[in-house]
Amino acid sequence: MFSVGIITCSDKGAAGEREDLSGKVIREIVEAKGYEVKKYIVLPDELDKLSNEMIHMSDDLNLNLILTTGGTGFSQRDITPEATETVITRKTPGISEAIRYYSLSITKRAMLSRATSGIRNNTLIINLPGSPKAVKESLEYIIDSIHHGIEILL
Ligand code: MTE
Repeated sequence: MFSVGIITCSDKGAAGEREDLSGKVIREIVEAKGYEVKKYIVLPDELDKLSNEMIHMSDDLNLNLILTTGGTGFSQRDITPEATETVITRKTPGISEAIRYYSLSITKRAMLSRATSGIRNNTLIINLPGSPKAVKESLEYIIDSIHHGIEILL
């Protein structure tokens, strides 16, 4: 069974001003696949906080998969892809390309996603968009295929 960390990247979520529905959507989808959510956290859009949590989840908790939601658009505060790029040692562009490719068939605004993904240690890290709808569409599209990738990383 794969272990999962969920990081919701949201100033409003971290301040308690917005309920984190997207994090819940991620949990439902991965648990339906038999994965175990070992850690879930809501953090503000700050590069150091996000990258330090990704390092902790990978280096200390040895999680198989880290899924982030939010902070991938053009808002001044959106910083999730940059935080991710500071911690990954190998990029996995095909995963993020696949998400954008599929999402473009739903909304052309998917081209505004700057989401990235990559590998640190044995951990696969994937940025998902912010809205619950976009998270569901993106994660359901890739989940069966990334299973094979995570197995190879073990
Ligand atoms: N992907 C899917 N599948 N469905 C969507 O509705 N919305 C897009 C995009 N990706 C969307 C999507 C929009 S409007 C934006 S701005 C970007 O994701 C970035 O989202 P974020 O800033 O919430 O992370």
